Amino acid sequence: MQDKELVEVAKKFRENAYVPYSKFKVGAAVLTKSGKVYGGCNIENSSYPVTNCAERTAIFKAVSEGEKDLVALAVIADTDGPCSPCGACRQVIAEFRIPKIIMANLKGAEKVVTLEELLPFAFSPDDLT
Ligand code: THU
Repeated sequence: MQDKELVEVAKKFRENAYVPYSKFKVGAAVLTKSGKVYGGCNIENSSYPVTNCAERTAIFKAVSEGEKDLVALAVIADTDGPCSPCGACRQVIAEFRIPKIIMANLKGAEKVVTLEELLPFAFSPDDLT
């Protein structure tokens, strides 16, 4: 699957964002090694910190379906530049070792980075062994 197609899925799921507080919609999509795609959006909560980001929604959907082999993640929002995953999402992206992260915005900007670039010196499952 092309990067642009994964971004398109993320864009579609962005429309489902539940954002009554920030009004800031984010969409994400993860691609599995087997070629399946799981989309997600941010889901806010009146207890603000309980909010789940779009990236984590997409990743958790995939993992809960038994798909842990994730090869790429796309994230999109109406930002000036490509939308960058927050720190918590970076840690989750690192947990599942997603090697490629495609950051995009609604204007068509796109930036592709590696996990290493996104979160250098990550604390990883290896550190617990
Ligand atoms: N948000 C995401 O969904 N992903 C990110 O990586 C950054 C932030 C959401 C959380 C909240 O609903 C809104 O954007 C504003 O922070």
